[in-house]
Amino acid sequence: MKNKPLLLPDSLKKVYDPATFRRLGHQMVNQLADHLEAMQSDTPGKVLAYQTPDEALDFWEQHLASDHSMEAIFSAVFAGSIKVHHPNYVGHQVSVPAPIASIAGMFSDLLNNGTGVYEMGMASNALEKLITDLVNKEIGFPDTAGGFMTSGGTLANLTALLAARRAILSQDIWEIGHDQPLAIIVSEASHYCIDRAARIMGLGTRGIIKVPVDEAFKIKTDLLPKYLEKAKAEGLEVFAVVGCACSTATGSYDPLSEMADFSEANNLWFHVDGAHGSGVVFSKKYQHLANGIERADSVVIDFHKMLLTPALSTALLFKNELDSYKTFSQQAAYLWNAEKAQEWYHSGKRTFECTKLMMSTKVYAILKAHGKEIFGDNYDHLYGLARSFAKLIERQDDFELLLTPEANIVNFRYEPDTRLDLNLLNEKIQNTLVEQGNFYIVSVVLSGNRYLRCSVMNPFTDEKIFAALLNEIKEIGDQIRSS
Ligand SMILES: Cc1ncc(COP(=O)(O)O)c(C=O)c1O
Repeated sequence: MKNKPLLLPDSLKKVYDPATFRRLGHQMVNQLADHLEAMQSDTPGKVLAYQTPDEALDFWEQHLASDHSMEAIFSAVFAGSIKVHHPNYVGHQVSVPAPIASIAGMFSDLLNNGTGVYEMGMASNALEKLITDLVNKEIGFPDTAGGFMTSGGTLANLTALLAARRAILSQDIWEIGHDQPLAIIVSEASHYCIDRAARIMGLGTRGIIKVPVDEAFKIKTDLLPKYLEKAKAEGLEVFAVVGCACSTATGSYDPLSEMADFSEANNLWFHVDGAHGSGVVFSKKYQHLANGIERADSVVIDFHKMLLTPALSTALLFKNELDSYKTFSQQAAYLWNAEKAQEWYHSGKRTFECTKLMMSTKVYAILKAHGKEIFGDNYDHLYGLARSFAKLIERQDDFELLLTPEANIVNFRYEPDTRLDLNLLNEKIQNTLVEQGNFYIVSVVLSGNRYLRCSVMNPFTDEKIFAALLNEIKEIGDQIRSS
């Protein structure tokens, strides 16, 4: 008996209907363009229409249970999302995406090339090579350098430390595991993902040697020899030193040249977590902050922080490209014929991801639309804005500036009366600011004190906005005090 041909169900046909896609896509682009216009107008509205987690869950549960048009669904997501293009967005270090990169994102989402193997992303793999080569050149790495892209700074730091362990230690831990306790040396101000990476690698608490920072929140390099000797005396084998370019909480750049001297002298891998600030190499004005980065063995750079790209889009760069193949030495015969060959175009040989987003397309769109100079312009502008914000704070009697910023991260607090519990006051101010939704800022505890923390990420933020923010903080602070 002949089998009946299997017919494509209408339900699936509908999923891929080009006319619906065209109509909704245009509508969505119009909605987002209207949003951009509104964000650049004199009346941008709130940066955040705050809901408590219970309210948000309740809203979406009711939404799920009822029928909505696609337009209404997008509008609801829009209403429930923070607006990073709002000039009053001065919160976490998330980029304010260049619209061209978002278009590239939609484009690459539909193409959905998995990228891990060459033919599943010929364009995106080749573009990754061009982009990482470009950044390597800006860093000042030699021609031996190479790199690839991966999903975020957290993953990139772990990937780098795995390569470091393989490169420095004689035993092949990938194959045989390790008995000897291992360690890395980091600044106590490093991002928590370094600590997390070390623990994932089995280093444990004692394998993460945290070196204190000075009053500018930079690692005290004069302590490095002492900490290394102590580790050795305790039987630890240190294989890497991690520098911050820059640190998350205060935007402080570690003295990278001194760290490179120390690493070289002691045959240690020198890794720079430059997720936020290593892109400063594109800026003529501020590139000196990262002097010494060219001596690192590996560098992480997040395009989705200071380089105008939507998340996630990160590059991991190696001074010697051969080292980048040391992270994994695994058999995956169904993916690659030559397991051990160093083939840059098979992205997945060097990344955690098997399937990976076409992230290079977004960066490339920015580069072609605006030129690489746009990256330097963004650093110059945002770092400059942070400096003027800091000066404004310094001129106020009732505010304390923690530190003159090196990057675009400004920490300060309202202190109308030093007899008050300023930690509690500033914590309440930040909570109220978020709930009111006119500004978005965060807070951080440094040296035992709570500070309000602003990352100036949006080029449309200006000095008038800083003044208005300080006013609102004062108003809220005074209301809290009087109540
Ligand atoms: C210095 C630093 N490293 C790493 C990370 C983590 O990067 P990602 O959020 O891309 O995983 C951050 C995030 O803020 C950071 O500031």
